[in-house]
Amino acid sequence: MRNKVSVIGSGHVGATTALHVAQKELADVALVDIIEGMPQGKALDLLEAGPVEGYDSRLAGSNSYESTANSDIVVITAGLPRKPGMSRDDLLLKNAGIVKQVTENVAKYSPEAILIVVSNPLDAMCQVAKHVSGFPRQRVLGMAGVLDSARFRTFIAQELKVSVESTHAFVLGGHGDTMVPLARYSTVAGIPITELISKDRLEAIIQRTRDGGAEVVKLLKEGSAYYAPAVSVVEMVESILKDKKKILPCAVYLEGEYGISNLFVGVPAKLGRGGMEEVLQINLTTDEKAQLQKSAASVQELTQVLMQNGYLK
Ligand code: APR
Repeated sequence: MRNKVSVIGSGHVGATTALHVAQKELADVALVDIIEGMPQGKALDLLEAGPVEGYDSRLAGSNSYESTANSDIVVITAGLPRKPGMSRDDLLLKNAGIVKQVTENVAKYSPEAILIVVSNPLDAMCQVAKHVSGFPRQRVLGMAGVLDSARFRTFIAQELKVSVESTHAFVLGGHGDTMVPLARYSTVAGIPITELISKDRLEAIIQRTRDGGAEVVKLLKEGSAYYAPAVSVVEMVESILKDKKKILPCAVYLEGEYGISNLFVGVPAKLGRGGMEEVLQINLTTDEKAQLQKSAASVQELTQVLMQNGYLK
């Protein structure tokens, strides 16, 4: 049986995700978007890259959800980026409406799928996807931590002039200002970076990691990052489809872990064929715990707004 991955929203992140899934021959890919012809055109273009790249993944685009039937994984990237004059809450409610409609359709055609949400604001969109699908928490995940950790690793490697492959980093918490880069658990060849990088430089690197998305947005002027987000999604997809059981930082619905309940927050999780198979609980210092609680509180604030507007119960 061939694996099937559907990608809803065939924009920058969605199409780049499709390319990497195909390049790694992880699955056949169904691309969906509301723009007529666009997913069909991108899927055809990607299919025609196959002979050169040497992949046999089948790619098809569509404006309807029939094409997504019986997916193993559905990646949700549909949504609007923030425009001038829009408040965070405006974006929250606009994207909540989109993610709600997308999830209803996805769950109808692929009741056994594992959902990976990418649309922002990430943690709040995960709450909507879980609520609307009614899926167990093992099958609803958000992609943020892999990306934030990749940014952290990039800066650590640059600072120490070592291969990115020798770096390992953990970033917990929500996606954005309240993320918690864990320096103590971040290493180069197993050595904690706290022993290799001065406190001042480390602070600067951590701040750059927190602002990583904004730094790219500022340079691009229109739209947001998509190469690193897409490969981060694909690392999660690969771990699930190949049942590799990688430990990756993901947005997970917590049920008491880290003293947090009924909220999506970024934590280390084991990803295998069953989706999110285990939440790893690592020891945190009082300060790290406080940072994680602060992160959870900001997710809670957004869920409150979603409740008031009928998107959550
Ligand atoms: N159903 C399907 N697709 C939709 C819907 C919908 N209801 N609403 C919007 N889309 C599509 C858009 O037509 C667009 O092609 O979602 C796509 C989003 O693509 P981009 O605008 O290129 O945005 P992208 O950079 O891919 O980011 C997507 O991921 O990282 C997050 O913040 C980012 O929320 C954003 C999402």
